[in-house]
Amino acid sequence: MRLNELFSIRCIDCGQIYGINEIVYICNRCSGLLEVYLDVNELNSIVNLDLWRKRPLNVWRYRELIPIFDDKKIVSMNEGGTRLLRCYRLAETIGVKNLYVKCEGDNPTGSFKDRGMTVGVSKALELDFKATLCASTGNTAASLSAYSARAGLICYVLIPAGKVALGKLSQAMIYGAKVLAVKSNFDLALKTAIQLCLEERRIYLLNSINPFRVEGQKTAALELHDQLGLNPDNVVIPVGNAGNISAYWKGFSELRILGLAEKMPRMHGVQAKNANPLVKAYRSDRQDLEPIENPETIATAIRIGNPISWKKALKAVSESKGSMIDVSDEEILDAQKLIARREGIFVEPASAASIAGLRRLVDDGVIDRDELTVCIATGHGLKDPEIVLKLCEMPIEVDPDLESLRRILVS
Ligand code: F0G
Repeated sequence: MRLNELFSIRCIDCGQIYGINEIVYICNRCSGLLEVYLDVNELNSIVNLDLWRKRPLNVWRYRELIPIFDDKKIVSMNEGGTRLLRCYRLAETIGVKNLYVKCEGDNPTGSFKDRGMTVGVSKALELDFKATLCASTGNTAASLSAYSARAGLICYVLIPAGKVALGKLSQAMIYGAKVLAVKSNFDLALKTAIQLCLEERRIYLLNSINPFRVEGQKTAALELHDQLGLNPDNVVIPVGNAGNISAYWKGFSELRILGLAEKMPRMHGVQAKNANPLVKAYRSDRQDLEPIENPETIATAIRIGNPISWKKALKAVSESKGSMIDVSDEEILDAQKLIARREGIFVEPASAASIAGLRRLVDDGVIDRDELTVCIATGHGLKDPEIVLKLCEMPIEVDPDLESLRRILVS
């Protein structure tokens, strides 16, 4: 059996099946979300941990689970293989024994988005597109711009005007994307982007509604399992448009079906207080998501009121018996400082939400002090230098003599 025969695209609502190389972003029949379906059982005889472990630790280690069929079309910058750091001092402060942070800021453009883009942009080449497009709160734009540049593709990014952190904006600009600052928030920009790509069939949409993005991002779960030698008890992860939490759950689920892991982790999603539609849906047990019109948070990456992958995210949380929780901007900024000062790990505010979320989950007794927990640090702190200027004491001006310096030293 050829690898491409194991994959199809399916609607998560009505089950409609599409060919793996069909260009679809939403279900033609019911407008539902799509996902790549992989007949994992068929892979049982081919895939095993020893095979993977002979390869370098990166996204493409898990080649058999990734629906790209022409190796020559792969656009890679060696993404994945990010550090998983045991954090003793942070753990002590939070009151847990066994805490790790997965540093997704190690990726080529400084966020987890690169895992999805190596697959998504490879697919763009495989499908013979000449241009890519996304709407973004910043990191998706930075990543798509870089991978499109490497692939020789034209790239358009739609960002909410005035609401993208400086580091991310400068990345998209230097990589040569056409940066369009849309006079709206992210949600409306995404809606417009989807409409545009449904009509302009020559431009490939690479938001996480595109199921190939998720296929790349799911490798983070496989990697975690590889690094720990088992699945953790809890994964705590910031949630915006809700693609990433869904991707982790897909990765863990495929591992289990392959018979390579048994115990599954609980997935805990963290949103910012005034951008928390999924938390509200989770608490109310509603089947429907009520979008938040004007989401607001200092963590601009997750300033999202109408997460496109909400259904997949709620499924991940309920199947894993996890939770959704929200944290205030103050808690996020405290956590950003805490992880930097206790562990030397510099993350952007959205990523610090996972640390703030863990604190709360421990205080609330949802996560037990003896459990093994991994917080996902989704993006690098240098993405958003302006926040630091607001958060920290400014450099102290000093004369260049010993007397002046000594006066400042801590006794
Ligand atoms: N953390 C960071 C640093 C992000 O950039 C994002 C999303 C998330 C967490 C949330 O991930 O959307 O899959 O739930 N950033 C997107 C963007 C929306 O456009 O860069 P999610």
